[in-house]
Amino acid sequence: MPSVFIKTYGCQMNERDSEAVAAQLVSKGYSLAETEAVADVILLNTCSVRDMAEQKAINKMENLAGQFRKSRPNVILGFMGCMAQSRGQQLIDKLPDVDLVLGTQKFHRAADYLDELIAGKRDKIVDVAEEKGSEATIKEHILSGSAKDKSVSAFVSIMQGCNQYCTFCIVPYTRGEERSRSIADVVAECRDLVARGVKEITLLGQIVTSYGKREIKIQDGKSAFVQLLEAVHEIEGLERIRFTSPHPKGYGDDLVEAYGRLPKLVESAHLPLQSGSDRLLKLMHRGYTRERFSKIIHDLRRVQPSIGITTDIIVGFPGETEADFEETLSLVREIEFDNAFIFKYSQRKDTPAAAMPGQIPLEMIEERHSRLLTCINAIAAKKYENFVGRHTQILVEGASKKNPARMTGRTRCNKIVVFDGGERHRAQIMDLKIERASNFTLYGDPAILNVN
Ligand code: SAH
Ligand code: F3S
Repeated sequence: MPSVFIKTYGCQMNERDSEAVAAQLVSKGYSLAETEAVADVILLNTCSVRDMAEQKAINKMENLAGQFRKSRPNVILGFMGCMAQSRGQQLIDKLPDVDLVLGTQKFHRAADYLDELIAGKRDKIVDVAEEKGSEATIKEHILSGSAKDKSVSAFVSIMQGCNQYCTFCIVPYTRGEERSRSIADVVAECRDLVARGVKEITLLGQIVTSYGKREIKIQDGKSAFVQLLEAVHEIEGLERIRFTSPHPKGYGDDLVEAYGRLPKLVESAHLPLQSGSDRLLKLMHRGYTRERFSKIIHDLRRVQPSIGITTDIIVGFPGETEADFEETLSLVREIEFDNAFIFKYSQRKDTPAAAMPGQIPLEMIEERHSRLLTCINAIAAKKYENFVGRHTQILVEGASKKNPARMTGRTRCNKIVVFDGGERHRAQIMDLKIERASNFTLYGDPAILNVN
């Protein structure tokens, strides 16, 4: 049977989609190639959030075609995911070596389409149509069962799409309308993962706080998303629940209160801010003000004082003045995020912001990016330093990538901890003492290990 290599760009949703496609292909008899150089099928799972991500995938495909088309003419080349969805047939027009373009509602069709291409029944396939029920098709996992690299943590897709239509964002166009899986379906997948040894589950979606809004009724003041958290929380053997990405407007009292009530829901939240200026938040169509955002953070810290909070911020949104940017800086200083991903605004096809007046020159975007980064890094360094000398609990995930002689895990508040341990610690919940901090990593002392 053929072998496949999948390269993934972008967010955790994309990672998860790639895993599901790989698992589906493996169940049909494909093997996973170690490198693209030996693969019979090469798929690029693409991201459209910024232009740079699209360019990277296009350049990569050009290189692959140049490298392999002559020497290995039968190699199948495909694009899937967000850029496949937004560009469709154009990708083949531009890059005639591409055989397959698979949209975001079609991941589960990968095996059938590859069979047809390999058998020579069809020459090219482009499928970017909508498909009812596709939100429930990302469910297969590749979990290593061997003791050596047993999976401790897994991602579960709970919904697809986004209806928020932030004016800068292409996601509602590439991922479509919000569609949610049922609670029973998600719980069944989580149960199966836990039975296979998974200890931590991250619930995934573009806007998870809108989960089930149309499909599932509010019950006892609890949103569908909180009902889902409760149902997953019931699973015996599951130790930790995370989710990403929520939208600030979804942090009602029911969700804030869940952090105090559900012990498996870890003290960690990724709350995309985008801007600290009310004027820009409105232009961005974010649906909250600076004051409302601060109140959510305040409430979360009241319920869970040790909660780790990260965010996304865009610099250089059209019309962003120095005063708007200063408002972002001041809010960042006030809130003290544990970390923040800063994005340079990128004009996206067909989004309202792309046509707004006052597009910001790149040099100014770069300058603001670097000022904000300095500010974020200084705060984060202080936050990480605060852990030194303290005991903290981690879930051990496996060998450290940078130094396989060491082990790595994460705190409940989502900080990476590296320590001198061994394979026997994998999948353990452990208490250890933090000895030092650097570069968004904490280092624990193995001498005081206290295995639960
Ligand atoms: N809810 C999704 C949002 C996907 S986009 C999630 O968090 O996964 C992720 C981040 O990319 C957004 O929070 C935003 O900060 C950034 N982003 C989106 N569109 C952008 C654009 N046009 N230019 C720059 N950054 C953008
Ligand atoms: Fe994009 Fe806003 Fe949805 S950032 S994914 S449109 S919440």
